[in-house]
Amino acid sequence: MKIAVLNGSPKGQISVTLQYVSVLQRKSPEIEFQIFDVAQKIKKLEKDDKFFGEIISQIAAADAVLWAFPLYFFLVSSQYKRFIELIFERNSTSAFRGKPVAVLTTSIKFFDHTAHNYLRDICGDLEMKFFGSYSADMYDLFKSKERHRLSLFGQMFIQAIKDDCGTIVSAKRLTNEAVVYEPALLPPIDTDGKKVLIVVDDFAGSLNLRPMLDNFQKAFSPTATLMQIKDIDIQGGCLGCMQCGIDNSCVYQGKDGFIDFFNEQIKSADILFFAGAIHDRFLSSKWKCFFDRSFFNGHIPVLEGKQIGFVITGSFSQLFNLREILEAYADMQHANLVGFVSDDMGSSQEINDALQGISANAVMYSKNGYTQPQKFYGVGGTKIFRDAVFGKLRIVFQADDKYYKKNGFYNFPNNNYKWRLINSAIVSLTKIPFIRREFVKRMKVEMIKPFGKILAKINPRE
Ligand SMILES: Cc1cc2nc3c(=O)[nH]c(=O)nc-3n(C[C@H](O)[C@H](O)[C@H](O)COP(=O)(O)O)c2cc1C
Repeated sequence: MKIAVLNGSPKGQISVTLQYVSVLQRKSPEIEFQIFDVAQKIKKLEKDDKFFGEIISQIAAADAVLWAFPLYFFLVSSQYKRFIELIFERNSTSAFRGKPVAVLTTSIKFFDHTAHNYLRDICGDLEMKFFGSYSADMYDLFKSKERHRLSLFGQMFIQAIKDDCGTIVSAKRLTNEAVVYEPALLPPIDTDGKKVLIVVDDFAGSLNLRPMLDNFQKAFSPTATLMQIKDIDIQGGCLGCMQCGIDNSCVYQGKDGFIDFFNEQIKSADILFFAGAIHDRFLSSKWKCFFDRSFFNGHIPVLEGKQIGFVITGSFSQLFNLREILEAYADMQHANLVGFVSDDMGSSQEINDALQGISANAVMYSKNGYTQPQKFYGVGGTKIFRDAVFGKLRIVFQADDKYYKKNGFYNFPNNNYKWRLINSAIVSLTKIPFIRREFVKRMKVEMIKPFGKILAKINPRE
């Protein structure tokens, strides 16, 4: 039996993820695991049709497929994303159809679920027989319980291939519900000196993009600046080398234009709109490259306090996973999510109203310095990063560590000694039955008592 392993790490063979594939290999030496470094070799795959065709033929000849990849910015790396795009663009889907498939990722478990959702649905689009997905923490291999769990997954997958079981994923086909957009005059909002930047990957992504964005630019006075990612000199995707972890300096520094673009244009804008067309079930790999390459900032929320909105064409309304990723991106950046406008949200009139609405809101929020409170995405995600940077990854992410120390991110353990004392005293007292009864009776009232004191101090003129 042969399993085609599609390696999504830009690091190729020197990959943490491949160590996990090795566990499966060692446990089942009778199975041939044929590894293809499709992310690392993406440039060759793009340019060399023959090379791409050879890999596709080998996948077609395999009994099953294993998508094995590291999490990159809520999803797969831009190189892997491009490989997925090529499968569809070059009509190579038949090599995958009906094949048993599993997904294996390594990560620090930050938004692993969105990457798994994405790939499961891609397997659905490819009409593969989905066995399941496995999300390993990058250090799981050091725990015998986790090694055992992974081996079990591998063995069950192999059994499922033998038994020809597994299910076709029930991902609903995306339907195109976008209208042919007709612009209408949007009365321009005075930006009051706020810098508005619209970034689009490439107008060629869809027919509606250019007219929507041309009109949207004019919703601001002065007219918003618009830049296409395709016009920026970007030599390649993030290589995962982690050099930036030490001091935020990227290995591409001085070799292409991305870092200057990010530092000079993105960081200096007050209001940012990211725009693009849906490609498979995300934005384009160009957009993915933008997100991955911004990793030179480490886990520092460099877009803090900015307004961020999204203008998207394609089946956006059917892609809750993508919406979740973009919401979480803004939340993790401590930025304010202004909203989404898509060309499948309704009629041209409704789209124009929505464009008007987000332009006016973005300016109002920016003028007032408003950022909404973080939600679960930001609160939970920040804690995952905090623990990772405080723990094993501190040596790698020294720049994050410095920032986290300075900005109070290390807000644990709870050093509030007053409350620690009160808590242990009250917990002990509630062990006595009559105090416990009285406590339960008064709990609701006591909980809101401290708020009363604060509310009494609120001054309407402040
Ligand atoms: C650019 C970049 C983005 C990453 N994004 C995520 C992420 O969104 N979630 C996560 O849990 N880990 C993330 N990671 C961590 C990697 O997924 C993790 O280190 C993985 O084990 C690396 O595997 P590899 O050596 O096979 O490439 C990211 C790493 C890099 C370099």
